[in-house]
Amino acid sequence: MKIFITRKIPEPGLEILRKEYEIEINPYDRALTKKEIIRGLKGKDGLICLLADKIDADIINSEPKLKMIANYAVGFDNIDIKAANKRKIPVSNTPGVLTDATAEMAWALLFSVSRRIVEGDNFSRADRFKGWAPMLMLGQDISGKTLGIIGAGRIGTAFALKSKGFDMKVLYCSNSKNEKIEKELNAKKVDLEQLLRESDFISLHIPLIKSTHHLISEKQLKMMKKTAVLINTSRGPVVDEKALIKILKEKKIFGAGLDVYENEPEIPDKLKKLDNVVLQPHSASATIASRSGMAVLAAENMIMGLRGEKPPNCINPEIF
Ligand code: DGY
Repeated sequence: MKIFITRKIPEPGLEILRKEYEIEINPYDRALTKKEIIRGLKGKDGLICLLADKIDADIINSEPKLKMIANYAVGFDNIDIKAANKRKIPVSNTPGVLTDATAEMAWALLFSVSRRIVEGDNFSRADRFKGWAPMLMLGQDISGKTLGIIGAGRIGTAFALKSKGFDMKVLYCSNSKNEKIEKELNAKKVDLEQLLRESDFISLHIPLIKSTHHLISEKQLKMMKKTAVLINTSRGPVVDEKALIKILKEKKIFGAGLDVYENEPEIPDKLKKLDNVVLQPHSASATIASRSGMAVLAAENMIMGLRGEKPPNCINPEIF
């Protein structure tokens, strides 16, 4: 059987795939266009794609032989699941292996914004440090403050548990009760408004679905404390980016740490000009171990799917 991979992924996954299949990989060091994906998929039984590839019905229906789609990401808002379901094509994702890496990035952003790490680095490199000063680079305390977690699934839970050393009060907002963080951190499940009004740090860990699109808009941003910090390592469109830029510009919150953007890879110039935001290039899962783990998982899912069995990380099990 033949597999098409839309961008080179780490070797451990490729090694597994090469043993079983003929594989073709995007030869360029860039994302492919829709036309190029359709061309690459021609005659292939399996597709391994990235979160940056919009796999719509046109792509899915372009190849009659297509039997399995493995997304090289845990989020799968880039794939038209309905179109895959119509053709009974299993779709898989890569949960688990990037949980800690993503939670760690959320913490890295939380610290960077609160303690003005990037600003301080730029300031020091520009030879602007002229000696210790009482009012230089004042930021926000973290220990003992209130942490607000929106979405208490795998990554939200890992993010919450890492607060243990900072003696924080933990609030969370989720569809279901999270026994683990309630037991270990005495976390309290609250509604979104209470979380936004009472938290010092708010971190988003929700998938992008219809009901989470612009979940954080101007109204919600205005509910946040003037000293609050917002962290987004989930998906860009969960936050209304224009509203966030306005709020940051007017200094209505202390700052934001962003790994994701509304129209990736575009990062608005207005955002880039602000000092009170730290920007990352959607790299929360970018550790050597996580990205290798994702490649292995995608390969394992592909193998099961092409055998006609339910892949271990199938996101549309209803087709079986
Ligand atoms: C994912 O896997 O969905 C993450 O966004 C990758 O960083």
